[in-house]
Amino acid sequence: MNSAHGEAVGSAAMENLLTVDDAERLAEKTLPPDAWSYVQGGAGDERTLRWNREAFSQFRLRPRVLVDVSAVTTETTVLGTPVSMPVLVAPMAFQQIAHEEGELAMARGAAAASTLMCLSTVATATPRDVAAAAPGAPRWLQIYVFRDREVSDQVIAEALEAGFSALVLTADLPVYGIRHREARTGFEAPEGVVPAIVAARARGGDAEGHHSLDLLESGLEWDYVAELRERWNVPVIVKGLVTAEDAELACAHGAAGVVVSNHGGRQLDGAIASLEALPEVVDAVAGRAEVYLDGGVRRGTDVVMALALGARAVLVGRPAMYGLAFGGEKGVRQVLEILRDETENALALLGCRSPAEVTRAHVSTIGSP
Ligand code: FNR
Ligand code: LAC
Repeated sequence: MNSAHGEAVGSAAMENLLTVDDAERLAEKTLPPDAWSYVQGGAGDERTLRWNREAFSQFRLRPRVLVDVSAVTTETTVLGTPVSMPVLVAPMAFQQIAHEEGELAMARGAAAASTLMCLSTVATATPRDVAAAAPGAPRWLQIYVFRDREVSDQVIAEALEAGFSALVLTADLPVYGIRHREARTGFEAPEGVVPAIVAARARGGDAEGHHSLDLLESGLEWDYVAELRERWNVPVIVKGLVTAEDAELACAHGAAGVVVSNHGGRQLDGAIASLEALPEVVDAVAGRAEVYLDGGVRRGTDVVMALALGARAVLVGRPAMYGLAFGGEKGVRQVLEILRDETENALALLGCRSPAEVTRAHVSTIGSP
């Protein structure tokens, strides 16, 4: 744990923060190398990690002019829940490695920016404590399924009781990706402060000596999506698909939403960039579910580009973690507000008064009309 690091960044540096890239540099200065390698790294040669960002240069915005944009709102809804902007906080494991207050500070920062946070199953705080840290704020729970199903079921039951409104089943981690940066710095998951892992071990989880995520099930198939929905009677979102085929299956199994995602380039290196995959998923879903995107979103212009290609909202992972690392709750809020302000500016300059006014006609692929 690096509890001292959170204080290392002066308020002057925080005041001069203009962009998410500035936040990234500040976070890198704040975090010890092993935590940084975990947050920042990707799988394999990190091609997919790079492509996620590069994909935003494969499209061009098509702004419309002489539209009255004297009143622009970034507000929208996700599965009926109002949020201040089409930018949500992605689920991320082990947040105490970035700041001593971990998920509690992340929850307060997201609430201060009036947007939704998705809590990881392998969080360093319980769903109940996260809910208590920011009462009334909108929240989803991300699901990893332990081989010992009772462990996940307990996390789900606790979260639903604490008011979490949807389950986000992460589908792209049947096994852990090959992460060389983590291996090189010797990063280890802070098992002892992860309630779900502690519970799995206490119940005899048999992965002693292995990576703690070896406790997770690698045999899940599509019927689990329907099972989750029927058992818990809440909307289920499938996170981590990048093909029309899987989008079709998600809809067929009753998903209320899908997150087009390659896990921030942390799983299958060489996998298609999220933004590149978005159009085929949007076409396949054909309005049956809400479509979200994550991976490489660092600018308000990225947000509106994803909206133009059919996303209802985006999630940001690392950017939120950068904010948490250098400034706890305040840092998270600051990064989210940068994204909100930039999104508002991009909407206005695109000739759109709200996220709902952004259409496919607001974007073109390079070389096509
Ligand atoms: C993640 N991600 C992730 N996803 C998930 O479903 N459960 C998890 O526990 C985690 N843990 C996690 C930790 C860290 C440090 C990162 C950076 C990412 C993936 C995350 O939800 C999201 O898909 C990506 O982070 C999106 O890419 P960007 O925004 O980081 O580029
Ligand atoms: C990760 C997992 C835990 O990407 O989702 O590190």
